[in-house]
Amino acid sequence: MPIFYNEEQGIFHLQSQNSSYIIQLIHGYAAQVYYGPKLREGANLTGMLTRVERSSFCPNPVREDKTLSLDTLPQEYPQYGTSDFRSPAYQVKLRDGSRITELKYHSHSIVPGKPGLEGLPAVYTEQDQEADTLLLVLADPVTGLAAELSYTVFNDFNAITRSVKLRNDGQETVELERVLSASVDFPDADFDALYLSGAWARERHIQRRRLAPGMTGIGSRRGSSSHQHNPFMALLRPEANERQGEVYGFSLVYSGNFTAEAEVDQFGTTRMQIGLQPFDFAWNLGPSEVFQAPEVVMVYSSEGLGGMSRTYHRLYRTRLCRGTHRDRERPILVNNWEATYFNFNADKIESIALAGRELGIELFVLDDGWFGHRDSDNSSLGDWVEDRRKLPRGLKDLAERVEKAGLQFGLWFEPEMVSPDSDLYRSHPDWCLHVPGRRRTEGREQLVLDLSREDVRNYLYDQLSNIYASVPVSYVKWDMNRNMTEIGSALAPGQRQKEVAHRYILGLYELLERLTASFPHILFESCSGGGGRFDPGMLYYMPQTWTSDDTDGAERLKIQYGTSLVYPVSTMGAHVSAVPNHQVGRTTPLSFRGDVAMSGNFGYELDLTKFTEEECEIVKSQVEAYKELRGLVQQGEMYRLLSPFEGNVTAWMFVSPDRSEALLFYFRVLAEPNAPLSRVKLQGLDPHRNYQRVQGGEVYGGDRLMYAGLPMHEVHGDFSSTWIHLKDTAKS
Ligand code: DGJ
Repeated sequence: MPIFYNEEQGIFHLQSQNSSYIIQLIHGYAAQVYYGPKLREGANLTGMLTRVERSSFCPNPVREDKTLSLDTLPQEYPQYGTSDFRSPAYQVKLRDGSRITELKYHSHSIVPGKPGLEGLPAVYTEQDQEADTLLLVLADPVTGLAAELSYTVFNDFNAITRSVKLRNDGQETVELERVLSASVDFPDADFDALYLSGAWARERHIQRRRLAPGMTGIGSRRGSSSHQHNPFMALLRPEANERQGEVYGFSLVYSGNFTAEAEVDQFGTTRMQIGLQPFDFAWNLGPSEVFQAPEVVMVYSSEGLGGMSRTYHRLYRTRLCRGTHRDRERPILVNNWEATYFNFNADKIESIALAGRELGIELFVLDDGWFGHRDSDNSSLGDWVEDRRKLPRGLKDLAERVEKAGLQFGLWFEPEMVSPDSDLYRSHPDWCLHVPGRRRTEGREQLVLDLSREDVRNYLYDQLSNIYASVPVSYVKWDMNRNMTEIGSALAPGQRQKEVAHRYILGLYELLERLTASFPHILFESCSGGGGRFDPGMLYYMPQTWTSDDTDGAERLKIQYGTSLVYPVSTMGAHVSAVPNHQVGRTTPLSFRGDVAMSGNFGYELDLTKFTEEECEIVKSQVEAYKELRGLVQQGEMYRLLSPFEGNVTAWMFVSPDRSEALLFYFRVLAEPNAPLSRVKLQGLDPHRNYQRVQGGEVYGGDRLMYAGLPMHEVHGDFSSTWIHLKDTAKS
């Protein structure tokens, strides 16, 4: 059992696969005394916390113990106003206007498995034996507010999940103003913060900077997790790198506004916090009500960022993603967006599908523009009825023609939006987020439907499920193309308007739960102008995401590398598009674009009917190769070897779980004259086994491949790339 409680010492010892997390009750306060490499249970775990008397500026809650100050005590769920002057984990406003509460130990239980989070996505267990959960209840006797802190420790993962439930056992409504999911105090500040930032078409670039006294923080106030910052932050030792050193990852399973901050205090300790964005948030918690905060997944790695990522990958691929498609190989698709934009008809679509069949492609995705009278992005969102001008015999007929051509049929929707020019908006102008008497600010000439409303969700469920039930749809691309403004709901009373952004996300999750449960055969892909909502929350409902609207091979190296810090390759959509690239105007070879896209969930996003014969041959061989390799790419362990953020060359590889097979990708962006000789050292192989190169037949020892490396003189010219497939000679 990985959770131990020593009652006499008041110590909880949580052991994940390779890490320990220790909580000690000190004067009833839940103190965080250790998080790091695994410690032996049974050895002396007392005295881990040094306490000294500080000045009068660090007040003492217990008069007899001057070494106790909440301003210096590392705490599990720190409160505001009772002498801890650092950032609190939660804040409340009480009926009388006061803001003071104090949470102290009330009770605890240790349960097998992992309880679900009501209404929210979360990592799960399939068998109770996979994990244990500590439920630690802290309570404030004056108000009746209680916090149930939940910690799950897994036998097979180096991860600990945390979440918080606030319960109002009092008689009066409590207004929650801040409810974070985790607060972890480290005894020093010798850390860098690493996070993923960017913009539309430039998502999840890696940022790393040294912590210093004060705050280092990121977050979103856009109503979704956002292109700009991902709900993830890692603290790592300055000497830690891809392969070695201590890393602590914090990933929030949520798709809306969030905050992630590291605060270095006056004594050089670090408080790491992550959770719902407190800005413009409030929640009225009535008597007997419970507020469930989202889950944070904490990963400790002593093997650098690579070790952290592989834990997230395995956990998220197998215990966050769900459904029939979780463990299945994903189909190779062609999407018509960059091929036709809004300008297509059924015959054009069928011709692309027929060309796809010749090339071995398995799924056709009809993107935006098939409904209402949508000839550009200025109308029809909300009217999910096929446009008979483009599809004279209807959507079902088109889907059947595509299926007859030998491909599965996929369809694009943007359900969360409404165009002012739509029948839906004309009949229900109050169904969008808005504030009475104010402008309704448009983005892409569209408004955001108010998913906090049940009637709106029911409308969407009916509209979408009618189509899913009557048309042979195997795949749905669920898009969302703007952020929230004028956040307000026509149905929420005044004091609940600050709840709307979070209620929207809860409503979205409820709708997704209903739809994915009703149509388990459909492979759902999430999208938000590419990767504007690439987060663990969405992955719980949809096992893959369109990584970015930027399909340029060189740009994609950075985007996919950054995304892989947290997210498994099986969740990343990656397509070959036409050149010059539509986002950046760059021309790169088809082979380079193919190799980059083959490092994800592979597909094409261009007009297949326009290929030359030579291009058709290249594409056929890409498709054939990917069919053979996709199991390795989508379910193998990923090792990042050379970073596009550090140089001209990128390399990564995938290794099968039994280490009998590996696939190396190597990319060089620009040719260099008289360049240094390049050699790449592989990782993750068995040093004692021999591996044969599938193309060529050379045999190398795993030790040689990892320690001496492979000379890479195989690429030539700008935007050049190659891949090498290796198999254990005993198996090949
Ligand atoms: C944004 C998506 O990211 C694109 O792939 C495409 O589906 C467009 N929306 C369609 O409007």
